Formats: sequence, C-alpha cells, structure tokens
Amino acid sequence: MSLTVPEKGWYKAPEGAEKLWIGLALVWCMVMSVMMPYWHFRGKQNSRGEAYSVEPAAFMERTTTFVESGTVGDWNGIPIVEPPPGGEAYLAARMWSWYPALKLRKGETYRLHLSALDLNHGFSLQPLNMNFQVLPGYDHVLTITPTSTGEFTIVCNEFCGIGHDKMIGKIFVE
Ligand code: CUA
Repeated sequence: MSLTVPEKGWYKAPEGAEKLWIGLALVWCMVMSVMMPYWHFRGKQNSRGEAYSVEPAAFMERTTTFVESGTVGDWNGIPIVEPPPGGEAYLAARMWSWYPALKLRKGETYRLHLSALDLNHGFSLQPLNMNFQVLPGYDHVLTITPTSTGEFTIVCNEFCGIGHDKMIGKIFVE
C-alpha cells in the first residue's frame, strides 16, 4: 500500500469572482437564518402549533364518532363527512388513505384535527400547496377557513411504503 501525499501548496484560496459568490452565499444563509424564525411569527402561512398527544386508537375512535355524526355522501368508498360550521373535523392518515373525505362551507371556520394511525405521513393540500407533517401520537389542530369553493386533493408527501403514491384524499368546499 502506498499513500500519495498531496503536493505542498495544493490549496488555493478563493479569489475574485469565486470569493464574491462565496460571500453572497454566506450573506444569503445569514438572511435565511433570520427569516426562518421571523416567518414563524409573521404571516398566516404557519400553523399556530396547537397540538395534543393522543393514542392512535383514541384518535380513530374520535374519527369514527365524527364520521357517524355527519356522513353526507361517499367518495370512492370513503365517507364524505360535513362538520358543523365552527365545529371539529377529524382526518386520520394511515397506510394508504385519508379518512374520511370532508365537506366544508366557504367562509366558515373549522378546527381540523390531523393525526396518523401508523407512521409518519405528510398532509399536502393541492392545488394550494399547504403542507403539514402528520405524526402518530400527535393531534395537530389546524384552524381553517376555506376562502374558495371547489374540490381539493390531499396527497401524502412523506414516503410511507408501497402505496404512498395512491394515498389521496379529498376536501370538497361549497
Ligand atoms: Cu402516507 Cu406517503
């Protein structure tokens, strides 16, 4: 075995345009480091972070009660549930579906409880591109007010196994 010892003086310090780009990248890193906590408080794009601990079985029980109390239709074999305006809505993520589908009214406010029954899933509401982590053990509450009518698709954006790409849900807003 032989070791090749690098020649002395192989390292060349950045200079000219290279130095400028490294400087710009560094400054931008600093700006983003400040903006990340800033955006946590500023703007309406973030969840308020309301969350509770919940056992998956208990969350499923609440979801079942919710489904029994307000089923108004069926989407691909999944019940469509309409919560009362101002009320609670439950959405359970599991391999590989979102349960149930929801029907909401434009301009009304709801408390949407999100949790997973098995492992980490990702709630991604399209075409709005709103994204939240969905974790087993955590009841993450989002206060939501739909501002437009239509059909919204929930896709899972955390890889969760063979059926990940088929994990599609629906929110209908009237
Ligand atoms: Cu659930 Cu990917």
